[in-house]
Amino acid sequence: MKTVLVTGGSGFIGANFILKARHHNWFNVVNLDKLTYASNPKTLDSLESDSGYDFCRGDIADSQQVSALLNQYQPDAVINFAAESHVDRSILSPEDFIQTNILGTFRLLESCKAYWEKRSESQPSTFRFLHISTDEVFGSLGPDDPAFHEETSYAPNSPYSASKASSDHLVRSYHHTYGFPILTTNCSNNYGPFQFPEKLIPLMILNARDKLSLPIYGDGQNIRDWLYVGDHCEAIQLVLQQGRLGESYNIGGNNEVTNLEVVQQICTRLNQLLPKENFDYASLITFIKDRPGHDRRYAIDSTKIQRELGWVPQESFESGLSKTIQWYIEQTDWIEQVRSGAYQAWIQQNYDDARSIEASDSSP
Ligand code: NAD
Ligand code: DAU
Repeated sequence: MKTVLVTGGSGFIGANFILKARHHNWFNVVNLDKLTYASNPKTLDSLESDSGYDFCRGDIADSQQVSALLNQYQPDAVINFAAESHVDRSILSPEDFIQTNILGTFRLLESCKAYWEKRSESQPSTFRFLHISTDEVFGSLGPDDPAFHEETSYAPNSPYSASKASSDHLVRSYHHTYGFPILTTNCSNNYGPFQFPEKLIPLMILNARDKLSLPIYGDGQNIRDWLYVGDHCEAIQLVLQQGRLGESYNIGGNNEVTNLEVVQQICTRLNQLLPKENFDYASLITFIKDRPGHDRRYAIDSTKIQRELGWVPQESFESGLSKTIQWYIEQTDWIEQVRSGAYQAWIQQNYDDARSIEASDSSP
């Protein structure tokens, strides 16, 4: 592959992917991103003078713009990272999720299908469309349920996961109906550098650093299967290059951890890295009202990608978390940029509406 169009490449996972792709010279990248609140163009500053990287601000739902880009750059593949991605925001205001995740994906599929059909007239058809999705489409597991595998039925529980499930179905249908060459990945919770600090891990690191409360929803016993973002990016590259067309691949870290444990681990590391006299960061832990419809447990069975493509995650949760905490402590400029006025307003809306049910100043 010479050139790949990446959508949503200024967000967390997309940017990590682009940095890796250019670092290893996997291919040239054109990044189409709307630059919503969740993005930070500064993340990709290091590619400013890279002739193998181009940026275009725009919306995947803008068919004219997408078609023009496809015709201009003639990419060999499109990877669709673009999405509204935060569950809490989807609960408070779902409309943007419908607009980008469903309508946007539909329009992107239409533009790419037209491009693929035209391109197939003049050259052998090697084009691929890789759709990046989530394990949340499978719903919630009980404590003894087996992990999600590719054949697990979809049962999305939030407006976010319902919108992602819709997009997955659309992508699948374009293969089934038109033979359009698609691949889908369903990944578990990512963490690592450049994640917007509305998500659990960066929010907790930065709140703790600033001695703010660490708000845990419900009883803190919800379980997520954490994967370091670099491992996710390697998996995406493998699926892009070697995945079987029409297939979906589950990607997970095999790291099932409760939210309370995640936050306690962050506090333990901060006690070592940024010690303060007579102070334990865990004393900031506060249990607040649960997220409505909160999924209890996610776990991913990655057997298929391991067996077919030889993918194995390199980072343990311990090593990945240490790297991530170190990164957030050091990157003060990047953090100040994303914590704008709009960010402060969101934090207030989500956490300050008398949601605290139990303020605790000691670790549970
Ligand atoms: P993010 O919110 O950090 O970034 C999303 C990016 O998409 C932003 O740069 C934003 O500006 C851009 N964008 C939004 N709407 C757009 C539009 N209409 N047109 C063009 N660009 C648009 O998200 P992320 O965490 O990097 O997630 C990327 C993808 O991976 C999403 O599809 C998400 O559903 C999926 N995913 C995320 C995780 C996770 O843990 N973060 C896990 C599994 C799957
Ligand atoms: O599983 C993959 C998904 O992981 C992705 O598809 C989503 O884009 C991504 O945002 C993430 O969804 P979650 O809802 O699992 O992630 P979040 O970081 O928002 O929350 C992780 C867990 O922590 C969840 O159980 C809710 C809890 N939580 C979260 C926040 C922000 C808290 O207890 N307190 C908080 O303040």
